[in-house]
Amino acid sequence: MPNDATVDVLVIGSGAAGLTLALCVADRCNVAVVSKARIDSGSTNWAQGGIAAVLSATDSFESHVEDTLVAGGGLCDVDAVKFTVEEGPAAIQWLIDQGMLFDTTKKGPYHLTREGGHSHRRVIHSKDATGKAVQRTLDEQARAHPNIRVLEDYVAVDLINRDADGARGPCRGAYLYDQREYRVKTFAAKAVVIATGGASRVYLYTSNPDGSTGDGIAMAWRAGCRVANMEFNQFHPTCLFHPEARTFLITEAVRGEGGRLLLPNGERFMKRFDPRGELAPRDIVARAIDHEIKRLGIDCVYLDISHKKKKFIKEHFPTIYKQCRKYGIDITEEPIPVVPAAHYTCGGVMVDRAGRTDVDSLYCIGEASYTGLHGANRMASNSLLECIVYATSAAEDILSKLDDLPPPPDLKPWDESRVTNSDEEVVVSHNWDELRRTMWNYVGIVRTDKRLRRAQRRIDLLREEIQEYYGNFRVTPDLLELRNLVTVGDLIVKSAAGRKESRGLHYTLDYPDALPSAEPTVLVPE
Ligand code: FAD
Ligand code: SIN
Repeated sequence: MPNDATVDVLVIGSGAAGLTLALCVADRCNVAVVSKARIDSGSTNWAQGGIAAVLSATDSFESHVEDTLVAGGGLCDVDAVKFTVEEGPAAIQWLIDQGMLFDTTKKGPYHLTREGGHSHRRVIHSKDATGKAVQRTLDEQARAHPNIRVLEDYVAVDLINRDADGARGPCRGAYLYDQREYRVKTFAAKAVVIATGGASRVYLYTSNPDGSTGDGIAMAWRAGCRVANMEFNQFHPTCLFHPEARTFLITEAVRGEGGRLLLPNGERFMKRFDPRGELAPRDIVARAIDHEIKRLGIDCVYLDISHKKKKFIKEHFPTIYKQCRKYGIDITEEPIPVVPAAHYTCGGVMVDRAGRTDVDSLYCIGEASYTGLHGANRMASNSLLECIVYATSAAEDILSKLDDLPPPPDLKPWDESRVTNSDEEVVVSHNWDELRRTMWNYVGIVRTDKRLRRAQRRIDLLREEIQEYYGNFRVTPDLLELRNLVTVGDLIVKSAAGRKESRGLHYTLDYPDALPSAEPTVLVPE
């Protein structure tokens, strides 16, 4: 049976990473970019603060490298950090060449803001909605390119890299569930790129959009790729706390521009935890807030920028101003109630400098990947930078090999002969909830061995149940995401349990200090 589609490059994910790669290869080959929802449904569209790069004469590569290494808690891959930082200015220029409009100052040059961990102003941005501008710019370019086909509402189910005997080989394509036709299609490609974003939805409270379910990490793991540093889950310190609001981020740039963190009695508390105060790296600020919330039995702390001029606040943070107004909070007059929420997956699929995974012809870029840049804690605004830099280097690698790669073969179609329609959807919704609650309560900002063991027991049970369900019933998007989430939850708990120290985002009461030296956690599939 012929494939449903055969392309040169199949890109799974249409955020900053996926679209950049597609645009960088499309002049020389045909590309399909698939997204499981709308093209702009990933985290990219939600990014606020901006993109870090050395863009001012008073800044230097050495300083950006040093800040990244410090934030990363001694676990960054120094070469990956240098590579990313040094490619930063070119990555920003590439975005500008695509039509991206960054904010400028009145005098002309780009306005650079500051965020936690950065010792210089180096975050280029578009107001407080940088991601939306990046996504829109890349969407427009991709849709206009004759060699790029954008396919929305396609959920990748699994990568295809096994022969008839089940042995692993190069990646030849992927099974994709078409949500409009309700069937799984077979896509063949010379090269497949995972650009599926992070997995923060494994936690009950998250700043991320619905699709951040770690699909790419779980698919790559099943295909035989190693994953690394999955215990380092970043919690953003300041998400809006309001009973009617879905978790909404209040950008770190608010603190960068002078915002103060306060207790309900108006006391400023961050200096008690770190001399850098509100601009300490994110792991420290999130832990401090968590500590104060638990110590005082309060629901939230407050972020106050109201001492700044009204005009300045409205000009710099128009999105946050509007969103908070919707909930009756005027940020020019009063402090914003905030709490931490799961924000970023520092670990992921292990790749080299060209985004190559352990499986031939399979690449991974963006938040789904582990490049070594972030170490034990990602510094603010280094993520979009990593997306562009590694998408570019992976594109170069793909183009250098394209002519030598064999044409994609006809692949085995998806087999539905042994499954029926589900008669118990409640299992899926119940297990979604249970998994996310377990992760939030036992594998959150502060961990212990006992909590991790509890989490592992529940995850083992859930995994068994979900696998059985998956084997018996037709796939649905919810079931596919749940299957991936439980895999990711398992990888996180196993990684966390293996780290007998506290470092960066991984903090455990049983081992409160960092060991004198440490290595990344690498998990190898069977
Ligand atoms: P995403 O942009 O998340 O895109 C993932 C894509 O994969 C989507 O198209 C999705 O539909 C698709 N996908 C997923 N699974 C499947 C599947 N199974 N099948 C098909 N398609 C699939 N970083 C910064 O550097 N600066 C910031 O200011 C900043 N602010 C942020 C604010 C918020 C609220 C959030 C949530 C994140 C922020 N980040 C920021 C982090 C940054 O936005 C993300 O790390 C980055 O955008 C990830 O890009 P990506 O291309 O890897 O994935
Ligand atoms: C923010 O704007 O605070 C988010 C920045 C980031 O996640 O890098």
